[in-house]
Amino acid sequence: MKKTNVEKANIDWGNLPFGYVKTDFNIRYYYKNGKWSEGEITSDENILMHMAAPCLHYGQEAFEGLKAFETVDGRIVVFRPDENARRLQRSCDRIFIPQISVEMFVDAVKRVVAANAKFVPPYGTGASLYIRPLVIGMGARVGLGPADEYLFIMFATPVGPYYKGGFKPVRALVVEEFDRAAPLGVGDCKVGGNYAAGLRGSEFGHEKNYPIVLYLDPKEKRYIDEFSTSNFIGIKGNSYISPNSTSILPSITNKSLGVIAEDFGIQVERRQVDIAEVESFEEVGAVGTAAVITPVCAITYRNKEFTFGSPDNAGPVITRLYERLTKIQAGEFEDRHRWLVEVEV
Ligand SMILES: Cc1ncc(COP(=O)(O)O)c(C=O)c1O
Repeated sequence: MKKTNVEKANIDWGNLPFGYVKTDFNIRYYYKNGKWSEGEITSDENILMHMAAPCLHYGQEAFEGLKAFETVDGRIVVFRPDENARRLQRSCDRIFIPQISVEMFVDAVKRVVAANAKFVPPYGTGASLYIRPLVIGMGARVGLGPADEYLFIMFATPVGPYYKGGFKPVRALVVEEFDRAAPLGVGDCKVGGNYAAGLRGSEFGHEKNYPIVLYLDPKEKRYIDEFSTSNFIGIKGNSYISPNSTSILPSITNKSLGVIAEDFGIQVERRQVDIAEVESFEEVGAVGTAAVITPVCAITYRNKEFTFGSPDNAGPVITRLYERLTKIQAGEFEDRHRWLVEVEV
């Protein structure tokens, strides 16, 4: 319970975009001859690499995204970094990147946040310090195969709310023209290729004025998969329902909200969700680290629009879940599940 006395950077915290703002330091680990180096803190924002590096050609790259917050009592905390560490391990395993231990990952988080403590937005601003770990295959290689050398970097950047309108409902479009993931592909891993594959679908939605798009399962185009950068949740009666597809990213926010829902006495169902069921939902949300929950007031599927609650305000269950999770992150509600990891500065 140590209050930090760090002097904050001179930033207009209330008007931060969800974009890159330069901070002082990042941390880097190199993998050579079968082992990871000690992490080194640097202020260099650039990477020097060989033009034949496999990350550039074959997409041998995995990444993560998590946040640090200043709490009401002035501590700096990170939300569930061990979960991101384990998810990165799964991504690495799938695309042949050597394992990064949970300890090494969490230590890197603490070091990069402590080094950039003055960029952790003050409590009450709605902003946070976004942490972006990435690991890439390096060294020269032309034939397809895993790299011999790797670089694991973690940088941090202060971010404002993901959606500028704040906690306001958005409309979503079901995109069937493009898939972001293949049935037994890497949709359940956080690897760059999924996001390149999703750019066209997101643009397709933007052109039609939908801020987010929803994908169906790539095999049958029948079950709900997820939004482009967030999981789907639907609220019906006393149930919290979320798809359990093999081609979606297991969201740490979704997992946490499920625990909170259970704390509230709401039944959590993780199962296939037929798109035909969508009209029976009372509330729908898009959940992920960036926005926690974006309420979804309408989904357009094959020229038919299904609506959920008011277009102006989030529904009561989603609001309650959102408030509880953001209060835990801000240290305003007891962290009874031990999700916060404190950073000593
Ligand atoms: C495709 C996709 N789904 C879901 C999520 C939400 O996951 P999390 O709650 O761990 O941020 C993200 C963001 O990481 C994502 O990119």
